[in-house]
Amino acid sequence: MLNTHKIRADFNILSKKDGKIPMYLDSACMSLKPNSVVEAMNDYYFNFPACDRSLHKLGSTVTKKVKEARELVAKFINAKNLDEIIFTRNTTEGINLLANSFGLVKGDVVLVSDKEHNSNLVPWLLLRDRVGIVVKIISSNVNGTFNLDNFSKLISGVKLVSIVHTSNLDGVTNPAKEIIEIAHQNNALVCLDAAQSIPHRKIDVQDLDVDFLAFSGHKMFGPTGTGVFYGKSKLLEKLSPFLVGGDTVEFSTYDSYKMLPVPEKFEAGLQNYAGIIGLGEAVKYLSQFDFEDIVEHELKLNSYITTELKKISGINIIGPEDPKLRSGIVNFYIEGTDMHKFVIMLDEMANIEIRSGQHCVHSWFADKKIYNSARVSLYLYNTIEEAEAFITNLKKIIEIL
Ligand code: ALA
Repeated sequence: MLNTHKIRADFNILSKKDGKIPMYLDSACMSLKPNSVVEAMNDYYFNFPACDRSLHKLGSTVTKKVKEARELVAKFINAKNLDEIIFTRNTTEGINLLANSFGLVKGDVVLVSDKEHNSNLVPWLLLRDRVGIVVKIISSNVNGTFNLDNFSKLISGVKLVSIVHTSNLDGVTNPAKEIIEIAHQNNALVCLDAAQSIPHRKIDVQDLDVDFLAFSGHKMFGPTGTGVFYGKSKLLEKLSPFLVGGDTVEFSTYDSYKMLPVPEKFEAGLQNYAGIIGLGEAVKYLSQFDFEDIVEHELKLNSYITTELKKISGINIIGPEDPKLRSGIVNFYIEGTDMHKFVIMLDEMANIEIRSGQHCVHSWFADKKIYNSARVSLYLYNTIEEAEAFITNLKKIIEIL
């Protein structure tokens, strides 16, 4: 069981003595940062703010710390080799890296689901418009869960399945292992968008046998502008980088160049060293918890909110009714209400911070003809008191609206 009180003391914003502490229920967008992550970044800026690979003492310290961060990430997702870990800015960059490096040509088919974040839809649509690939959409079940039959009907002849692991829209986790198995039986490769799953569940890339995986640091206690793109070594070796320059080549002449091996060939230019070091610290922080405890804690809060929301007429929860299937997410809308207005009132009245809009899944909202929604997203530092305050204030706002 999680000791929420102790956890909150690790976060300046949740334990400060002066000023109001926000009730922060927006971790699917951005998690809060433990002090240890901020301190690790400050350590870089205060004590060794140099570039890696320079052979002087400061540079060597950066090289060592970046290597440590890569080791921590590799161990965290159980990657076989260190060079399978490529540091990026975020999940979006990882998926764009794949889209632009995979070498897809006219007629190649990419499969995505009908609930993809724009980061895992638009890169493929852009490639459709630029080179003529074919993008096919897997329809979910009515309640938002994955439909393996629909997937199996589309898989033949597909080159790449690029699919969300846990949806930021409704919190549903897709059956990655089955999807990957079926894809491989049909000679298709699989990329998982793990932005929303990696903060909440154990991901073992070897056990999943996933080919590519992209995630962000900022949803799992890490700094903004950090992310990871994982790929199996033998596949990464074949990809051609789309961003090149300093640190990606072994040498160049006026008319030739020799690329470095992975991961260097994908990490062009000086890097976000403070961020990478902070990301390593975030992995350390998250690794001290048991994922089962995180899931149990989020379910307790999600169940309470779901039960209370279901008692209020006019509220529609997006995705399955059962909170067990929705990770830490409760996304809802009220017929005839602009949910932007609702979340601003919630913040102003009660200092409760949740997110409104279409959550970068515009395609789903356009299809369903729903204007917008308000999303509560929970993490291990949230408390039942915060969940109760959310419900109390939601009821007050509904009376005013
Ligand atoms: N993907 C982020 C969210 O869902 C921005 O909030």
